[in-house]
Amino acid sequence: MNLLLRGRLLTFLRRPEGPNDVASYRYEDDGALFLRDGLIAAFGAFDEVRRLTPHSVETVDHRPHLIMPGLIDPHIHFPQMQVVGSYAGSLLEWLNGYTFIEEQRFADASHGERIARHFFDELIRHGTTTAAAYCSVHRASADCFFVEARRRDMRMIAGKVMMDRNAPEALCDTPQSAFDDSQAVIDRWHGEGRGLVAITPRFAITSSPAQMEVAGALTKRNPDLHVQTHLSENREEIAFAERLYPDAADYTDIYARYDLLGEKTLLGHAIHLSDREVGALAETGSVAVSCPTSNLFLGSGLFGLKRLEGAGVRTAFATDIGGGTSYSMFRTMDEAYKVQQLQGHRVHPLRTAWHMTRGNAEALSLVDKIGTLDEGTEADVVVLNASATPAMALKMERATTLAEELFLLQTMGDDRAVHQVYVAGRPAKTTSPA
Ligand code: GUN
Ligand code: ZN
Repeated sequence: MNLLLRGRLLTFLRRPEGPNDVASYRYEDDGALFLRDGLIAAFGAFDEVRRLTPHSVETVDHRPHLIMPGLIDPHIHFPQMQVVGSYAGSLLEWLNGYTFIEEQRFADASHGERIARHFFDELIRHGTTTAAAYCSVHRASADCFFVEARRRDMRMIAGKVMMDRNAPEALCDTPQSAFDDSQAVIDRWHGEGRGLVAITPRFAITSSPAQMEVAGALTKRNPDLHVQTHLSENREEIAFAERLYPDAADYTDIYARYDLLGEKTLLGHAIHLSDREVGALAETGSVAVSCPTSNLFLGSGLFGLKRLEGAGVRTAFATDIGGGTSYSMFRTMDEAYKVQQLQGHRVHPLRTAWHMTRGNAEALSLVDKIGTLDEGTEADVVVLNASATPAMALKMERATTLAEELFLLQTMGDDRAVHQVYVAGRPAKTTSPA
């Protein structure tokens, strides 16, 4: 299916360095995108792109909406859809009281299949076309995830969670089974369609030293894979992790000792870090993935964006469903904005719009494929309506600049502002349930 999309186009060329950094993005007021064979074949002014495309190609007129790259969520838990909104005082109570119970349901593949359908429906409804996801400890949960991602031809990263202690027996693997099952998931799904497998030790608390060795060995054996885990989310968690690994200098050093840091490593939360740890993240090119709705919901803490950026740490923003409370990257960046405001640091809407798209793609080392509207990249696209609700439409009457429109989408937007989504060049947002 080939399509010509007409509308206002916005894509980032690099990170915006301030409100007036117009050279950081490309904007076409009456633009067109030519989607051909799942890729973006042309980007430009409508008249020009129309002239270059065969006349038989169908045009979809999305004016006056804003067309942007599909949104990217670099930290989300597929088995936690039914955990969202669980009443807990803090992380460990939430994990033990709800999450480790819920995830046991994924031993049943039919449950995994059902949740996978809902999961991808929800992502698409919210304009998210790529995610880095945790499955459960069960190998079958990864199969359910990737079968559904493949069916929808989505660019997805996911891994079978490795966890062999400090959790219910039914949710624990062993170092050997974690190795065998992870490698089996890699062999079956990495590079299958648009699927990418991540090595996924849950966090230091639920992996024994022997299992961390296995995670390191898997990483050495599969060096192009992402590694995803959690780091320094909560003070009690940090103290527990450091007790379990007394030889490590700090929490970050636990992962360093097993060779798990690097440019493909995604560290969820990364809130309470010493200067030494910040330096280690910067030096290794590891990514600190902030999850603001989760951090506020669980009372975990405030992400130090300015400090981390100042030290040269790569950063990203994510939902962390089900600790997080919304699938929407708009809701996520709205909370990220408020978390920075509380620390006296104001983040401009050009910067937050970059984070949701190109910024998160750079953090995933996938910017050659996703996160922009560049020609030759994959045709994952969102069509946004900043007047989607009566209240938004009223406020939009006062928005006169692109930055004000983006800020309105961030502040008031959710799935209702996502008018259409194209995945690999095909319209994907429907109103029918899973
Ligand atoms: N740390 C270890 N596992 C989890 C999880 O599932 N969610 C969050 N927010 N933190 C974790
Ligand atoms: Zn998480």
